[in-house]
Amino acid sequence: MTTDKLWDGRFREPTDAFVEAFTASIPFDRRLYRQDIAGSIAHATMLAHVGVLSPAERDAIVNGLIEIEAEIESGAFEWSVALEDVHMNIESRLIARIGEAGKKLHTGRSRNDQVATDLRLYLRDGVDEVSVAIARVQEALLVIAEREAETIMPGFTHLQVAQPVTFGHHMLAWFEMLQRDRTRFADCRRRINVMPLGAAALAGTSYPIDRAFTARALGFEEVAENSLDAVSDRDFAVEFTAAAAILMVHLSRFSEELILWSSSQFDFVELPDAFCTGSSIMPQKKNPDVPELVRGKSGRVVGDLVGLLTMIKGQPLAYNKDNQEDKEPLFDALDTVLGSLRAYADLVPNISLRRQNMLRAAQRGFSTATDLADYLVRKGVAFRDAHEVVGKAVRHGIDSGKDLAEMTLAELQGFSTSIAADVFDVLTVAGSVASRNHFGATAPEQVRQAVVRARGRLAAAAGKG
Ligand code: ARG
Repeated sequence: MTTDKLWDGRFREPTDAFVEAFTASIPFDRRLYRQDIAGSIAHATMLAHVGVLSPAERDAIVNGLIEIEAEIESGAFEWSVALEDVHMNIESRLIARIGEAGKKLHTGRSRNDQVATDLRLYLRDGVDEVSVAIARVQEALLVIAEREAETIMPGFTHLQVAQPVTFGHHMLAWFEMLQRDRTRFADCRRRINVMPLGAAALAGTSYPIDRAFTARALGFEEVAENSLDAVSDRDFAVEFTAAAAILMVHLSRFSEELILWSSSQFDFVELPDAFCTGSSIMPQKKNPDVPELVRGKSGRVVGDLVGLLTMIKGQPLAYNKDNQEDKEPLFDALDTVLGSLRAYADLVPNISLRRQNMLRAAQRGFSTATDLADYLVRKGVAFRDAHEVVGKAVRHGIDSGKDLAEMTLAELQGFSTSIAADVFDVLTVAGSVASRNHFGATAPEQVRQAVVRARGRLAAAAGKG
């Protein structure tokens, strides 16, 4: 048989045309070309280092691969579905370009360790890109947190007004969620950065390869310990996608808040026109499309994660073709995360705040009820009794349409004789937030200190990368 396939020596019939397309990964794995070429250059260099290739063969291979990379980047490279995947497309092109030496590149290697290596190199860069993109959103949040350290808004539990908080504090909560995401990706990077190359098909190779040499050339921190595990392990892909899914869930929650806040019922923020669209029928509409899309896209990344886990679940050792299905969900998760982070980094600095509306909302809804209870405790009332007293005052407020701060001293004293004129200091929302003045709490002073610490934490992480 003479087809252009690299493996058909034992075959008598050509591949069915549908099966050829069905089994090919070239439509999606071509984006690994750079990593594939880097891996091949390192492999050929190592083979020459241990004397399996001559220096001349190595040079022909390395130069040939560099030229192929340029060819791909210029758009001149012709990808062939018949050649199945990125590995065989490039190898076949190398043989066409340089002849005999090209046929030696695959010595002591298999596509099984090759693809696992490519994917790890690709994701290592992906993690670094994601980390930078997360940090951009975090920096944007810190600018707002600092500027809005004194801006008061209602804090919610159960989406019911709970206690007043500062808007800066709320932005710092988002910052923390992203901070955990960044550390999750950094942690997963350590397990991505392990080199499978040398495992060959599954059992290793009979050539005297120097795996540490190849690992150094490719910047891998470690060499995979077990060849069977090395070609079959996709845990790193699952971990990456899990970190991506958690990140998307966070962005989805931010989105939900922005969508609520920009509704006319809340009216706390206005999103920039450039990030919204109108309705083709309702002229008054301005829809928060970008947050809605990010919220929607969280679903696909969760799906990517479930898909990967399920793909791996039934696989016996070692490599199985199932693993070819790892790429699309992985790339989708990466692309979705990068797109969503970019949207957020651009959106966040352009949100305008309706500070008066937030303040008014915090003043309604008895958000200082806990402050009144705490006041009574300071006057010697037991907390449970204080809770009861304030509950009655709130009941009266609901019936008479007044907030606590709007009641007269006499009215308040009707609920407890421990109440004096100084009660009005704690019934204001500004007094309430200022009194929550300890590490991690909402007082403006604490928010400012937290911003300083957060900047240090971001800089420390950037220094490490
Ligand atoms: N395209 C394959 C993948 O993505 C490469 C490895 C194929 N190995 C094999 N023995 N068929 O997993």
